[in-house]
Amino acid sequence: MKFFLDSAITDEIAYALDTFDIDGVTTNPRHVQVSGKPFMTVIQEIAKLVEGTEKTVSVEVNPHIMDADKMVAEAEKLAAISPNFVIKIQCVEPAFKAIYALAKKGIRVNCTLIFSAMQALQAMRSGAFYISPFIGWKEANAEDTRQFVEDIVLIRDNFGFDTEIIVAAVRNARQIVDAGIAGADIVTAGLQVYQDGFDHPYTHKGIQLFCDFWDQTQYE
Ligand code: E4P
Repeated sequence: MKFFLDSAITDEIAYALDTFDIDGVTTNPRHVQVSGKPFMTVIQEIAKLVEGTEKTVSVEVNPHIMDADKMVAEAEKLAAISPNFVIKIQCVEPAFKAIYALAKKGIRVNCTLIFSAMQALQAMRSGAFYISPFIGWKEANAEDTRQFVEDIVLIRDNFGFDTEIIVAAVRNARQIVDAGIAGADIVTAGLQVYQDGFDHPYTHKGIQLFCDFWDQTQYE
């Protein structure tokens, strides 16, 4: 299972690459805005961090674009910047034609903002390289997400689609574990979600306990 970092903050990405060997990066317009840098600057900086690796960076096309040909043109422009880029296109009707055209040209698409198994199925039929079902937003809306992810994995496996499933908008370790149980290929989450998940208070309690015993024991 791959862990992607959902961020456009270069220091954070460099840290996560170095410390946890994260497998890829996902960005979106919010992350880019938070970085405080111009879009083109920040995506090129992120590209540098993963240069020469197989790690992918998902970069989103201008979300105002609702025309397939314009999506393709924008995606081609972004894909030319780095071989690591996978182009994020939001899951709306014109996207399907764009994804199909881009797949034929060898440009990988991450179909984003997926909230139903039907959207996921159509994105996979169109040839999306990744699909991003957003579970955090659905849970905030009191919707079930375990079944949602299981359904998408089952459909993908039933028909042998090559698409990898990125469970996105992940808020806690339980959701990461559930995504793994469901058979999702990838999760993408913020640095703090991973750091909280890799930590446990009992580990610290145990360290304290063992340090006390260590201090009461002769070494030789
Ligand atoms: C995924 O690719 C998205 O960037 C991300 O998970 C969006 O969700 P969030 O910004 O609400 O965490």
